[in-house]
Amino acid sequence: MEQRQLENLLREMTLEEKIGQMVQISGHLLTEGGILTGPADTVEITGEQSALIGSILNKVGAKSLHRIQEEYIAGHPYHIPLLMMFDVINGMETIFPIPLAQGCTFSPELVEAAARVAAKEAAVAGIHVTFSPMLDTVRDPRWGRVMESTGEDPWLNAELGKAMVRGYQGGENEVLSGAGNISGCIKHFAAYGAPEGGRDYDNVEISERTFREDYLRAYQAAVEEGCAMVMTSFNSWNRIPSSANRWLMRKVLREEMGFDGVVISDYAAVAEMVSHGIAEDSREAAKLAIMAGVDIDMMSTAYLNHLADLVRDGEVEERLIDEAVMRILKLKNDLGLFENPFKDCSEEKERELFACVEHRELARKAAAASFVLLKNEGKLLPLDKQSRKTLAFIGPYAENTELYGSWSFPVKPERTVTIRQGVGQKTVGNSVKVVWAKGCPVLNEGMVTRMKYREDYTEIDLNRLMDDAVNAAKTADTVVMCLGEHRDQTGEGGSRAVIRIPENQLELLKRVRQVNDNIVTVIFSGRPLEMEEITERSKAVLMVWMPGTEGGNAIADVLFGDTAPEGKLSMTLPRSAGQIPIYYSQFRTGRPNRTGTKIGFCNGYLDESTKPLYPFGFGLSYTAFDYSPITLSRKEMKKEDTITATVTVSNIGDCAGTETVQLYLRDVKGSVIRPMKMLRGVQKVTLQPGEGREVSFAITEEMLEFYDADMNYVSEPGLFRVFIGTDSGADNYAEFTLMQHK
Ligand code: BGC
Repeated sequence: MEQRQLENLLREMTLEEKIGQMVQISGHLLTEGGILTGPADTVEITGEQSALIGSILNKVGAKSLHRIQEEYIAGHPYHIPLLMMFDVINGMETIFPIPLAQGCTFSPELVEAAARVAAKEAAVAGIHVTFSPMLDTVRDPRWGRVMESTGEDPWLNAELGKAMVRGYQGGENEVLSGAGNISGCIKHFAAYGAPEGGRDYDNVEISERTFREDYLRAYQAAVEEGCAMVMTSFNSWNRIPSSANRWLMRKVLREEMGFDGVVISDYAAVAEMVSHGIAEDSREAAKLAIMAGVDIDMMSTAYLNHLADLVRDGEVEERLIDEAVMRILKLKNDLGLFENPFKDCSEEKERELFACVEHRELARKAAAASFVLLKNEGKLLPLDKQSRKTLAFIGPYAENTELYGSWSFPVKPERTVTIRQGVGQKTVGNSVKVVWAKGCPVLNEGMVTRMKYREDYTEIDLNRLMDDAVNAAKTADTVVMCLGEHRDQTGEGGSRAVIRIPENQLELLKRVRQVNDNIVTVIFSGRPLEMEEITERSKAVLMVWMPGTEGGNAIADVLFGDTAPEGKLSMTLPRSAGQIPIYYSQFRTGRPNRTGTKIGFCNGYLDESTKPLYPFGFGLSYTAFDYSPITLSRKEMKKEDTITATVTVSNIGDCAGTETVQLYLRDVKGSVIRPMKMLRGVQKVTLQPGEGREVSFAITEEMLEFYDADMNYVSEPGLFRVFIGTDSGADNYAEFTLMQHK
C-alpha cells in the first residue's frame, strides 16, 4: 500500500477500531491451545472486542495461524491483517545455543546465521515478529534471564545485537516483506538487566551515566541497524516504570536515538503500573502509557477498556492514538501483509525447513563454537577414540534430552541429540570403550524451579544410581562428568540466590573423585555458576551452557577433538556469589587492590579475593597462542586520525586452533573515573601449528568517547592504553596520546 492509502484507511477508522490495533492478546484467547509466557488472567475479552485487536502473541504453526488470519480478516471491517508475534529467542524448531552461549562465540557471523535460520523457520510457521534481540547488559548471574542476553559487555552486545537484527530482518538492502524475513524487537527498554539483587522484575538503581553508557548502547546499535520494534521493560529506572517513562520513550528513544518504529509494552506491564504504585487503576495506567508513547498494550486490557474514554473525556489527544496506529499499520504494510496476509506461512515449507539437515549443521557448529574450555590439566582433552581405554560418562546430563534453554517453546525434546547419541556415533567401530551411568537426577528432592518438576526416585533408587556411577568410575581410565543446573532454574522468573549446581550432583562428583581423579567435567548452565568446587575436582572443565538440538553432537565433536574449543566467556565467572557484581570493565578506586587479596586499607574483602575465577573473554583451546608486543602506527592521534594497532599471533602448540583476539582500551585519566578496560574489537584467526599471523585493529576517536563530567558525549585528550590479548586479563599493551581537539 502507498502511504497515502494508509492515511486514508486511518481516517476512515473509528476510535474503537483504531484502539483495537493497539491491543495485543495471547493467541489462546482466540482459539484453543497456545503457549503462555506470563499470567493467563490478565485479559478478559469479549468476542466483539477480539474481532478488532491488532496482533496476537504466542500462537505458532502454519495451519492454525493461517486459519486465524483468514477468519480474522474476513470479520474485520477493513480486512486489516493481524500481526503474529512470538518469542523466537534462540531458534524456532532447530534450537540453537542460548543467547549467553552465542555471546561466547564472539562471532557476529555465526550469530547472524543462527538468527537467519530462526527467522526462516518462524516465518513459515506464520510468525511476523520475534521478541528478540534481548539486549540487556547483564552483570548479575543470580538473575535468571542472563541466559537470554549475550553477556556483560555493551560493545559485544551491540555487535551481536546488530547481527541478530540482520538475521531476522534480512540485512541491508532487504525489505521486511522479503521471503523469510520477520521483524525483530529490541528488548527490554530499558536496563531490565540490572534488577536489584538479581531478583527478576525488581527496580533498577543505576546512575544516568551508567544507564546511558553501559545499558543504552546495545539498544541504540540495534535501532541504528533498523530494528522495527522496541519492547518496554517491566522494571522501573529512576523510580519510574519504563512503560510510563515519557522521558525515556519520547526523548531518549524517539528523539535521541531516532527510533520511528512500533513500541510495545512487555506482558501486562501497562496494567502492572497499579502494582508499582504509580497508577490508581488501569485507566490511569493506560493514560500514563499512551502519554509515554507505548503503541501496543501487550496482554492487559488497559488500552482496550479505557483509551476511548480517555480520548472522549479530553484527557488524551486523539492525535496520540493516530500516531501509534499509523506506526502499527506501517509495520503491517512493510511486512507486505496487506498484499499477502499469510506471508511465508506454509505447512509444506514447515516440513521442508524445520530442523532440516542444513539448519542442524549450523546449530552443531554454533554450539561447538560456544563451548568454553576453562581448564585442561595434563591435556586430558581431547579424548582419544582410537585408544583401548575405558571412558565413563557419568551424570544426569549424560543421556538427557533437555539441552535447550528456557525460551524454546515449540521444542520437541525427542529431536535433541543427547551426549550418549553424539558420543555413540563418534566411537562406534573404534577401540575406545564407553560406559554410562546417570548417578543422580538433575535436581535434589524438593528443589524449586520455574515449572513443576518431578522425577520420582525412592531412597533405594537414589543409592543404586550413585553406587552404579561410582563403580563405573572405578573401572574407567577417564571419567566425563555431565553435570549442571536445570533449564528451569534459569530464564524469566528463574533468579537464584545460590548459583551452584544442585548439591546431589556435587555429592556425585565428590564420590567419583574418591575413586578416580582423571575427571573431565562438562557443565550445563544458563548463567555463570560458582564453580570452584568443580574446577578443583576436575582436570578439565568445559562449559557447554544450554547447547540446543545438536548439543550431543557438538559436545562429542569437541571432547574428541574433531572441533577445537574456541568459545570465550561473555560473562565473568565469579568465585563466589558474594563478589557480584563482578565484571571486567569495573572502575578504578582510590585504594586499589593489586594482589586480589585483602591487605590493610585497600579495596576488597576480608574473606574473598577480588579476582574472578575466570575473567571475561577467557577460554582455552587445545593448542596455545603466543602474542608479540603491540606496534602502533602512530603515537599521537588527532581527532580525524586512525591508529592501527598490530600484533602477531602464533600457534605454538601441536594442533590447529582458532583464537579470538581481543582489543581493549583504557583511558588513563578522565574527568570522570573510567573503566579498567573497554572491549573495542574482536578478530578470530584460525592457525595451524607453527603458523603466525598479523592481526590489526583500527582505533578511531569515536571509540574513545564517553559521558564526561558535564554529561557531554566526547573524547578527552590524554594518554590511552591499547591492550591486545587472549582475554580481558591481557597485560600486553602500548600507549598513544589523543591530542588536544582544535
Ligand atoms: C517477557 C518478554 C517476552 C514476553 C512475551 C514477557 O514476560 O518479559 O521478554 O517477550 O513475555 O512472551
